[in-house]
Amino acid sequence: MPAATIAPARRIHGRLRVPGDKSISHRYALVAALADGRSRLSGYSTGADCQSTLACLRRLGVEIEVDAEGTLTVSGRGLGGFHAPAVPLDAGNSGTTMRLLAGVLSGQAFVSALVGDASLSARPMRRVMEPLERMGAHIDAIDGRAPLTIHGAPLHAIDHEPAVPSAQVKSAVLLAGLHASGTTSVAEPAETRDHTERALTAFGAAVDRRGLRVSVNGGQRLVGGAFAIPGDISSAAFWMVAAASLPGSRIEIEAVGLNPTRTALIGVLRRFGARVLVEVSGTNAGEPYGTIIVEGDRTGTLTIAPEEVPGLIDELPAIAALAAQSGEVTVRGAAELRLKESDRIAALVAGLRNLGISAEEWPDGFTVHGTGAPRGGVADAHDDHRIAMAMAIAALGARGPSHINGAEAVAISYPGFFETLGRLVAPGDGLGAR
Ligand code: S3P
Repeated sequence: MPAATIAPARRIHGRLRVPGDKSISHRYALVAALADGRSRLSGYSTGADCQSTLACLRRLGVEIEVDAEGTLTVSGRGLGGFHAPAVPLDAGNSGTTMRLLAGVLSGQAFVSALVGDASLSARPMRRVMEPLERMGAHIDAIDGRAPLTIHGAPLHAIDHEPAVPSAQVKSAVLLAGLHASGTTSVAEPAETRDHTERALTAFGAAVDRRGLRVSVNGGQRLVGGAFAIPGDISSAAFWMVAAASLPGSRIEIEAVGLNPTRTALIGVLRRFGARVLVEVSGTNAGEPYGTIIVEGDRTGTLTIAPEEVPGLIDELPAIAALAAQSGEVTVRGAAELRLKESDRIAALVAGLRNLGISAEEWPDGFTVHGTGAPRGGVADAHDDHRIAMAMAIAALGARGPSHINGAEAVAISYPGFFETLGRLVAPGDGLGAR
């Protein structure tokens, strides 16, 4: 599917589930591999990124079976139990795979190499290399970028204060900390997703959390178990935004993760003028989940302030599509977006303009201003799953059909995105009904 065609739609409605949470899937697979005993992981993400993590773990000697329902059985090897890989470990497009594995591999008694695709090989790795080297590992890179060669070593604990808020950096240091002597702490400049902390606790480790400071003792034993992974709210975000931007829409997303470090979009959509209802169904392994209902109503003017950015980092592409037809959205303090799978600020602004939507680029963000149904056009995904999905959602309210080039990128986190889109555009709500 090199290009996807998006037919105009007046509204979307339906009840659905989204693939398993990408961040939680990576962590459960990694922690299950480090644990003693077997783990059963249901709802594991079907996205290519999480498959990259499984492929790397298999190369490290971890046995992983997948049944017909997609439930994984991971045979844990215990801390320090991985085999030296015979070939470089390929993280594909996945920053989480590369950065979190770098933390784990730093504490193994062998040399390993981590490689990635062109996008991942252009992303900054010094942010993990610096603390991991301070703990005792040695990491070769090319100007702070992959390929990485990791010389694992006996590690010692550090206190780390990352310059930018990053759950990947925090997680890499904490996972290395499990392999280190002493107590490793990370004090973040702002709160980021805390799935690693919750996963380690669920697998039996003691994690000390005081405000923005998290600490783990080295040498703790992790114990395998059975865990269910909720749907990915960052994937649900595209449907939530589509419903909010197309008044008269109603969307219900079941069994989606509601971890409070991930739900900031709900408040954002309410500020924009949508009705959002949240029903908590329960908690699995410390991760709350439930149903989110979004009804498009009014559209408004919205500014995302810099301090909101860490809690919305993966939702900002969707948020850029919110005002595609009417209303106005400004995001500032989000320069980190330029360091994601693509330069998301440039990619979003260029794509929206190509669809006939008024968009302004700032060094650290963007403004999108809806002036009625745009004409539609041809937008490029820039090999970035979230750009592909944001463009598809922005194109929904256009006057004519649009094309998204490179649409197959959605498979990184959301295979089946376009099939689901087809189902949510109700008969009679397409072009003919406008
Ligand atoms: C992630 C953390 C975020 C996010 C990424 C997934 C994670 O990256 O953008 O999609 O699973 O820890 P940063 O840690 O670079 O902010």
